[in-house]
Amino acid sequence: MGEQNDQLKAALANAAAITRDRLENLLSDRPRDGEVIRPRRLLDAMRHGVFNGGKRLRPFFVLETADAYGAEAEAALDIAAALECIHCYSLIHDDLPAMDDDDLRRGQPTVHRAFDEATAILAGDALLTLAFDAIAGSSSSLSDRSRMVLVRELARAAGIGGMAGGQMLDILAETGKPDEAAIIRLQAMKTGALLRFACRAGPILGGASALEIERMEAFGEAVGLAYQIADDILDITATTTVMGKRTGKDGEAGKATLVALNGIDWARRQLDDIVDQAATLVEPLGASGLRLAAAAKYVATRSA
Ligand code: IPE
Ligand code: IPE
Ligand code: MG
Ligand code: MG
Ligand code: MG
Repeated sequence: MGEQNDQLKAALANAAAITRDRLENLLSDRPRDGEVIRPRRLLDAMRHGVFNGGKRLRPFFVLETADAYGAEAEAALDIAAALECIHCYSLIHDDLPAMDDDDLRRGQPTVHRAFDEATAILAGDALLTLAFDAIAGSSSSLSDRSRMVLVRELARAAGIGGMAGGQMLDILAETGKPDEAAIIRLQAMKTGALLRFACRAGPILGGASALEIERMEAFGEAVGLAYQIADDILDITATTTVMGKRTGKDGEAGKATLVALNGIDWARRQLDDIVDQAATLVEPLGASGLRLAAAAKYVATRSA
């Protein structure tokens, strides 16, 4: 187990490092073909929202599943960077005063605090569109058809039926009384959709069968559910310093979470079950499967 953890740590660090290079490239101050200038203040705000120490878990899942299915690493990196742009945009907007109104993210001032609200909104907008630029403009050997499929999948994961839709349901749930099924659905959208995409991207890139893509989607769904349950537990049990973001805020806002509904002990048992299911799904994938299973466990049991 110790060895598996070391392997996972190394794989996470490697994913973060290589994704960083790709993100640096996307967020350079050099205008691309068709662009006039890249306004300094907006670029600085985007960079603040991206290069502030995220765990880069979504890129890890893209790269690891791509590796498992023999996909081209260059293409996977562009997808990983695109997805992280969307994730960072979602956090910048999630922290805005009109949404969760948070001052701290990844241990640093949120983008609207470090800059201002209008700049933070624009930084999110520009990161969202940059993601699609990264896929459409990838210099890998991705076929036109694969680009189109991935653009559509990412759009659906991020949009009204995915992350953005889930954020809407999350806000509505503060004043409503959602039951367990409704909470699971909203979390599968707000957090699950991007993680589901991360795990589908690898087998899609590698030309895997529909059945295999579905199996990895189920794995991504399990990871997404575990991710949000763990986030909700940590909101109650962890300190702001350790998390690098304000904690104790879900209870204050009357957020509908499975932990609020069923309690922390239930949630921890649930996490154990989800980790087991996730491990079974990736068992056929050999060494990659072991790393993916270890990552699912890490997501469920992380302390920050
Ligand atoms: C935080 O995501 C927001 C949720 C979806 C719960 P992460 O915990 O992956 O955040 P970073 O990217 O590591 O900061
Ligand atoms: C945010 O969920 C999910 C997205 C940004 C899509 P939370 O509001 O629980 O995330 P934190 O706790 O602020 O990271
Ligand atoms: Mg939120
Ligand atoms: Mg939040
Ligand atoms: Mg949270």
